[in-house]
Amino acid sequence: MPFRIIRNDITKVEVDAVVNAANNSLLGGGGVDGAIHRAAGAELLKECRTLGGCETGDAKITKGYKMPCKYIIHTVGPIWQGGKNGEKEQLYSCYEKSLQLAKDYKCESIAFPLISSGVYGYPKDKALEVAVSAITDFLEENEMDITMVVFDKSAVSVSEKLIADVKKYIDDNYAEEHSDYASRRPFEAGLFKRNELSKGKKLSKAMEPECCDALPFDFDTLDESFSQALLRMIDEKGMTDVQVYKKANIDRRLFSKIRSDVNYKPKKQTAVALAIALELDISETQKLLEKAGYTLSNSLKFDVIIKYFIENKKYNIIEINETLFAFDQSLIGV
Ligand code: APR
Repeated sequence: MPFRIIRNDITKVEVDAVVNAANNSLLGGGGVDGAIHRAAGAELLKECRTLGGCETGDAKITKGYKMPCKYIIHTVGPIWQGGKNGEKEQLYSCYEKSLQLAKDYKCESIAFPLISSGVYGYPKDKALEVAVSAITDFLEENEMDITMVVFDKSAVSVSEKLIADVKKYIDDNYAEEHSDYASRRPFEAGLFKRNELSKGKKLSKAMEPECCDALPFDFDTLDESFSQALLRMIDEKGMTDVQVYKKANIDRRLFSKIRSDVNYKPKKQTAVALAIALELDISETQKLLEKAGYTLSNSLKFDVIIKYFIENKKYNIIEINETLFAFDQSLIGV
């Protein structure tokens, strides 16, 4: 998944480069800056002293020392002064310059804190918006695993209205009783092999899916694998592979695995991400998921939230992941 949001202490994240929210002196401070200097050790400060400081919006690179990363990229965010002093452009430049440095140093993965959203007072939702726009712009032209590490969930403030809409949708659709997963979905539970059904074998009573969510198997295309169905749908939608995997927020290498292995079985989060990228409706989505043995039901909060976005034709995967994150659900993508 090229872009993910996680909650963690950034000094614990194992990536090629960790970005530090520094100040112009580059000689350490509180917040992320203090945590990184403590974790990296005294050697880091020694190297920082040789850098001659850093302009706001710019970035400089050092070794990672005792941190679980090869490099630390120090960038200086703007101090929030109400938003009319070029703060947005300066903050955007922090991500842009840091990503460019990471690319120059052949990094394949990078972790960012939410720059300027602490001591520097940049409102967290606005700071996240700028971060997401800079990161998605970079991913349009480049490949890199990018992680946004937030310290507290409040940093990912999805719009109140969206949260309220999703909450209402969940209340209206989320089946309270948590069914016995296996009896409702014998396929995902691995209790039953798809081809046995196609040979006319009946599900035993115990495994009969009790509810409407059991998928009406589209037997005439049962032989079509997930990969074949996906490639067919990409053609039908007139999209290119690159457009689809970028919109699905999945890694190019994963997509080529799916493309080249006709029997490849993706994770549910990946299959859902691809359905979103293709902007499928509910029934097309169910058909595509069914090829990989999955379904969207009303008994899993994750499923209900995905159904909300599909039924409301909201196919922005970053917004979907921010909402899933806000509801403590796993994100979609690889
Ligand atoms: N891991 C991940 N995120 C963290 C961590 C951590 N260990 N510590 C703090 N954060 C979060 C904060 O909650 C905030 O959302 O990182 C974001 C950035 O906060 P700051 O570290 O205060 O950085 P910033 O707002 O850019 O201010 C920079 O603070 O520490 C000083 O020397 C630094 O003067 C500079 C200023």
